[in-house]
Amino acid sequence: MKSYGVIGHPIAHSLSPLMHNAAFKVLGLEATYGAFDVEPASLRRSLEVFKSKGFAGLNITIPLKEDMLALAEEVTEEARAIGAVNTVLFRDGKVFGFNTDAFGISKSLEEFRGELAARNMLVLGAGGSARAVVYTLLNDFSPNELIVASRTVKRADELASRFVPSEASKIRTLDLQDPAFADTFKSCTLIVNCTPVGMSPNVEASPLGDPALIHSKQIVMDLIYTPLKTTLLAAADKVGARTISGVEMLLQQGARSFEIWTERQMPVDQIRPVLLRALEDRGKGDPNS
Ligand SMILES: NC(=O)c1ccc[n+]([C@@H]2O[C@H](COP(=O)([O-])OP(=O)(O)OC[C@H]3O[C@@H](n4cnc5c(N)ncnc54)[C@H](OP(=O)(O)O)[C@@H]3O)[C@@H](O)[C@H]2O)c1
Repeated sequence: MKSYGVIGHPIAHSLSPLMHNAAFKVLGLEATYGAFDVEPASLRRSLEVFKSKGFAGLNITIPLKEDMLALAEEVTEEARAIGAVNTVLFRDGKVFGFNTDAFGISKSLEEFRGELAARNMLVLGAGGSARAVVYTLLNDFSPNELIVASRTVKRADELASRFVPSEASKIRTLDLQDPAFADTFKSCTLIVNCTPVGMSPNVEASPLGDPALIHSKQIVMDLIYTPLKTTLLAAADKVGARTISGVEMLLQQGARSFEIWTERQMPVDQIRPVLLRALEDRGKGDPNS
């Protein structure tokens, strides 16, 4: 029996055990996946404990992803560029670090790849998830211009300075309160919300002051998955824009971790409904979900 798990602080509401245990069951793999609360101060020690107990792999979540970068013995170029490790593989006594968020973002946007090429793209927020989104969009989707809009422009400037776009792309930053925000927003084909604004319990909130800015030719992705339909996505739906919920990124980044550990494909089409059901139950306040 192989052991896997997710570590973070807090961790009680993680959907990763549900997702991975369901995938093990579908594929008939002898494996289990648990959730473990680990505080940042005990990360190094905990890693040794998981290693000595024979764990095969771990997911790493908030607030440990950045610290794990320094603790993994070998780290992929992608994880180093994003500045965070969210997946660990224990093999041959060594700790290998990966970041599967970029894969998750890329897969979530796959069906729009053609129409996104050389278009303007807007990232709202400049935190950890925005770093992975900016990395992915610059590397995988060749934007004409990528704009990082944040309430703290200094943070957006720091984020933008981490990446050197190709000759075909430009990157710039913008204050969310800047009077030019409205025109910038309208000029973008893709909008990705990387702020927690609109996340449960504050479901009425939206990172967009004026929903009338959204138009039907846009694609709007929200990294939030509680609720599944945020106020931002509902406004986008209303004008006929295409929308992507954060649950797709959650699923796809997990699928990539699963593949790294097991060398098997997660049966995502069978696991997606499991996640959606749990999130819908959570929305209804089911204490068992
Ligand atoms: N779907 C997935 O798999 C997935 C993966 C990762 C994250 N997420 C979700 O993505 C969201 C962001 O996560 P994160 O890890 O990037 O968080 P983070 O590192 O804390 O960054 C949050 C960003 O949002 C901005 N922000 C926070 N409150 C704001 C407000 N009221 N108005 C405007 N901007 C605000 C912050 O700005 P300041 O710098 O000014 O504070 C910061 O730029 C969360 O909801 C998280 O659950 C989803």
